[in-house]
Formats: sequence, C-alpha cells, structure tokens
Amino acid sequence: MTEFERQLTRRRLLELGLALPPLAVLAGSDLFAPQALAATPEILDADDDPTPALTEGPYFTPSSPKRRSILPAGAAGTRMTLTGRVLTTTGRPVANALIDWWQADARGEYDNSGYRFRGHQLTNARGRYSLFSVVPGLYPGRTKHIHVKVQAPRKPALTTQLFFPGVAANRSDGIFTSECLVRRWRTTNGRRLATFDFVLDV
Ligand SMILES: [Fe+2]
Repeated sequence: MTEFERQLTRRRLLELGLALPPLAVLAGSDLFAPQALAATPEILDADDDPTPALTEGPYFTPSSPKRRSILPAGAAGTRMTLTGRVLTTTGRPVANALIDWWQADARGEYDNSGYRFRGHQLTNARGRYSLFSVVPGLYPGRTKHIHVKVQAPRKPALTTQLFFPGVAANRSDGIFTSECLVRRWRTTNGRRLATFDFVLDV
C-alpha cells in the first residue's frame, strides 16, 4: 500500500466513523471543533439560570452594618463560612454588588431590635464575597435558611434565601427550593464551609 492509499483508507475509515485518531490529532483538526462547540451552550445554560427570588419574610431590617462577619462576639452555634460570587446570566462577575444578609441565631431567634446576625458587604473586583456566621437554627414552620438581598449597582435587588443540605425540614418547608441549596457543604476543623454563586438577571 502506498502512502497515498494509506491516507485514502484512513480518510474513508474516518468518514465511516470507524477510526478514532488520537486526541492530539483531533484537537488540531476541524473534526474536534464541532464537538467542542456543541457542548459549550449546554454547560452555560445549566450554570446561568438566574437565582430564584424567594419571599423576604417579616424580619428584614434596613441599614445593617457593613461587615463580612455577622457573628456577634461569644455567640453560640456551629461556625460557618460561606463564600461565592455574584454573576450575570452570561457568567460575568459583578463587582461592587451589595449583599445584605439576615438570619436567625443558632436557637432560631432573630434580633429584631438590633443587628445581631445582620450585615451587608460589597463583592470585590472578581465578584467574590465571604460571609462568616453560624449555621442558623430552626424556628417553627421553617427549615434552616439565611435571608439575603443581592443587588448589582444601579439594578433592582434580588431577595432570596439559602438552604442547607441534609436538613429534614427541607422536605416540609413551603419556601424551600433545591436551586438555593448551598454547594460543597462540608466540615473542616469543626467549621462548616459552603459556597454559593448568585446569578442575577441583569
Ligand atoms: Fe427567616
């Protein structure tokens, strides 16, 4: 078989889908491009659904202090660090987004006369935030949750809530949605860690 014939045979096999060249060959060829392009939109669609709005509830207090730790000194409860980003539906980070948190303490009680477990912060240039708190307690009729308002500069605020995996009351809570479950829920050195990316329809 001549070199020309070998190439013809190889081309014919490729047309029939019977020969799979090594990945390095595919990556440099036109064959690879349609496959890579086809997969990308599906991934973006899955990641970029806006975070759903959920009810504000009765306990929001405006003008919370600016701070990343909303944990009062000496407060009881399992320490929790929540990190993540604020993104647009096209995956762009939102810098200087306002995030205003409020939650019950570890016993399930809100501070409605002061600002315990309340605070706001701004995302950094990469759209990132960090929250230091405790895992909120249960109170009658609700599963564990954190309330939050997220607002891109000069845009309307999204009001929603975040939830925690493995809480039995999630199943009976009328507000709960798995779309607002924190991700990568884990424990390191006794501290609970989690992530959540807010996606704003802006
Ligand atoms: Fe609440």
